[in-house]
Amino acid sequence: EQRLTAGAAAALKAIARRPDIKMHIEQEPQLYTLLQRAAARYVTGEQRPQALAVAHQLHDEGYAVSLEYIGENTVSAAACQQATAELAGVLTELGEQGIGGRVSFDLSHIGLLVDRELALAHLLQLGELAHTYGIELFISMEESAKTEAILQLYRQAVAVYPLIGITLQAHLHRTWADAAVLLTKDTRVRFVKGAYEEPDTLALSRSAELDDRYVTLFELAVQRGCRISLATHDETLIDRLRLSSWQGAASVELELLYGIRPELCVRLREQGYPVRVYLTYGQEWYLYLCHRIAEYPPNLYQALIDMVGG
Ligand code: FDA
Repeated sequence: EQRLTAGAAAALKAIARRPDIKMHIEQEPQLYTLLQRAAARYVTGEQRPQALAVAHQLHDEGYAVSLEYIGENTVSAAACQQATAELAGVLTELGEQGIGGRVSFDLSHIGLLVDRELALAHLLQLGELAHTYGIELFISMEESAKTEAILQLYRQAVAVYPLIGITLQAHLHRTWADAAVLLTKDTRVRFVKGAYEEPDTLALSRSAELDDRYVTLFELAVQRGCRISLATHDETLIDRLRLSSWQGAASVELELLYGIRPELCVRLREQGYPVRVYLTYGQEWYLYLCHRIAEYPPNLYQALIDMVGG
């Protein structure tokens, strides 16, 4: 079975967020090491230098990169400030080391759940640095309860710093209307299908209809002259997007998560497509691993193989 039911995926993500379970794992060195081995396929490491080393290597091989310091739903102002400082650090190093690229993050990692003004202040602080170094700053899209707040903060910040980009989820019914308003010439937009379980009233599940919607959003962004990242591992969908005309967009690229389908990255690159690899790092690797398994259960077998063979 290639997909978990909505309930099972939500349960796995909820388990991943439980601090008591995480604490037990941390107290069991053998289990911790095994899980870390499984996560190593998807996460570059716990620390920034590990992510930057991989970013350098991929850059030299001709890929663009995105970097994410993993984290979400941070509930203390101090932790949000720490996350912002880390993102500022990675942004600065990307700029100073000439790798270029993009820094990606969840607004709930830098203050959305604490206070919107705090999130905005952190976002503007990062926007200023992004502007200084010419690095793109990309806002990820979280579950639908946060969509409105995320889009509002995005609009406020992008008006000041145009290097800020936004992720839009094709699965949400509201996205077409959001895109119609947000997308203008040179808007930096990343399209994803959507990783969060949502009710039918708000979103489509994986289906041909969702793929059609994704293509239609792409076509709208092309017409509007946007800078488009197509973030998907779905080869059938990528084939359809190739057939669509890229003419008119300011730029189009494919963006794939590190470790998910490395062979596809190579193949697309060899075929001449601009490919960006999305790298992650941080102490929250366990959460990230659970997300990758929840979205694609066969990754559990891969994780077990990595644990035993690593
Ligand atoms: P889909 O889930 O439809 O699967 C199609 C096929 O792709 C599968 O049959 C399999 O072959 C392959 N595949 C998909 N996922 C795989 C996996 N994990 N491992 C192995 N193979 C897999 N979501 C969100 O809600 N907010 C966000 O901000 C982001 N940000 C983001 C950035 C980037 C760069 C990417 C690539 C993805 C995201 N996502 C996201 C996640 C996105 O919404 C979606 O959940 C995943 O990309 C999986 O959907 P696909 O379109 O890739 O394929």
